[in-house]
Amino acid sequence: MSEHNLAIVILAAGQGTRMKSATPKVLHRLGGRTLLGHVLRTAESLGGDLVRVVVRYERDRIVESLADYPGAVPVDQDDVPGTGRAVQVGIEALPDDFDGDVLVLSGDVPLIEADTFRAMLEEHRTRGAHATLLGAHLADPTGYGRVIRDDAGMVERIVEQKDATAEEAATTEINPGVYVFRAASLRDALAQVGTDNAQGEMYLTDVIGILRRAGHAIAGVTAPDARAALGVNDRVQLSEAARILNSRIVRRWQREGVTVQDPATTWIDDTATLAPDVTILPNTHILGATTIAENATIGPDTSLVDTEVGAGATIRRSDVNLAVIGAGVNVGPWAYLRAGAELADGAKAGTFVEIKNSTVGAGSKVPHLSYVGDAEIGEGVNLGAGAITANYDDVNKHRTVIGDHVHTGSHTVMIAPVTLGAGAKTGAGAVVRKDVPPGALAMSVAPQRNLQGWVENNRSGTAAAEAAIQARTAQEATDGE
Ligand code: UD1
Ligand code: CA
Repeated sequence: MSEHNLAIVILAAGQGTRMKSATPKVLHRLGGRTLLGHVLRTAESLGGDLVRVVVRYERDRIVESLADYPGAVPVDQDDVPGTGRAVQVGIEALPDDFDGDVLVLSGDVPLIEADTFRAMLEEHRTRGAHATLLGAHLADPTGYGRVIRDDAGMVERIVEQKDATAEEAATTEINPGVYVFRAASLRDALAQVGTDNAQGEMYLTDVIGILRRAGHAIAGVTAPDARAALGVNDRVQLSEAARILNSRIVRRWQREGVTVQDPATTWIDDTATLAPDVTILPNTHILGATTIAENATIGPDTSLVDTEVGAGATIRRSDVNLAVIGAGVNVGPWAYLRAGAELADGAKAGTFVEIKNSTVGAGSKVPHLSYVGDAEIGEGVNLGAGAITANYDDVNKHRTVIGDHVHTGSHTVMIAPVTLGAGAKTGAGAVVRKDVPPGALAMSVAPQRNLQGWVENNRSGTAAAEAAIQARTAQEATDGE
């Protein structure tokens, strides 16, 4: 007897023609993972150490996507089409002496939770069943296999929509396409499945009728949420499934102490992590491996991707990707933080500010209209409005180093590579081409010349000239007093 009592076979060999996509269906994404990724995670949490993923269409791409799930072993389906054949090749790839239970999952049914499968396994074992189905009723059962019961209400067989009589098709009890089987019964029954049906395929669903006719018990567990049991066959169903998953994730974080003001416009990937007392304002996307520490406020209108946010930080109306944001940092409105932007505690990236591949020291501020790229900014720095690090000379990117407590005048351009020493200052409009020693004031703008009367002389008759004459006359009157 094998040491294992549970094997999981995941069906992922189909193309998913209704997606009309160059990407195989099970690699389409929702909530930060692929459809198949969600199923693999569920399989993992069930402790299935015998996981077989049946592949065929675009098999290399799907096999590559299994890299994050070391327990999942791909198995190639051959020319024989159908879910029955897929399961057959899946169980042939199990250890020969395996005689436990086989949980069959579908790579395109991503939302059924592990607890539902645990309930199915439990019912299967306590009832001594040979097969256990998941029960679901749908007001509109179109497209699904229908569960046909006998007069005593016992499951008799499953009939595919394309093979159903009008009477059978009227049944609203559908087959979500996930099952538990006894391995030996499944092997025997599959050996009897043919391809004599509307699609010329080996139907896994035929196994139910075969087991029943052999006198074996078929058990059933009702799905807690029929909508969650639905598969994804086209992009309408993909967006519906994404919304169901998202509301589940939002509710989970609300129960963990996160304030989400508008769940309908808040999208949180399954891969993100939020601390208690985080506040999420409307129209905000928290994606990828983003983590948000306590008391941070995010949004409205903000997108965070693979970003780390410190405690008490505030990010408003901003786009942030692969950044690290310290405690108490203030970002936005309308900031764009790109890969490698690292803002230390108490720093600020304000309005119309873009920062990439740069560190901004504790308490340093980049408040308005700035581009900071490939820079290292010390602590207590203030970059005046319109500061630009000119990091690119058309060939290479260069670094700008700005020491602690540097203050730059408005509209300073720093031509990298360049260093501003600690405590240095720049005049407004400075173009800094040479290093500035610590504590020096750098000025590069020529002294101002005023050409008296230029507007009156060269633009006479314009509103500006009239205003100038009035102001000059008033001034002369005052001076004459
Ligand atoms: C299947 C069920 C149907 C059920 C529905 C639920 C059968 C015959 N029908 O129909 O009763 O209501 O799921 O979603 O099982 N696959 C393979 N190899 C194949 C064919 C399919 O691995 O040769 C995989 C697909 O990639 C997919 C899954 O099996 O992940 C289901 O296949 P699909 O073609 O979508 O089956 P349905 O027609 O939806
Ligand atoms: Ca399907």
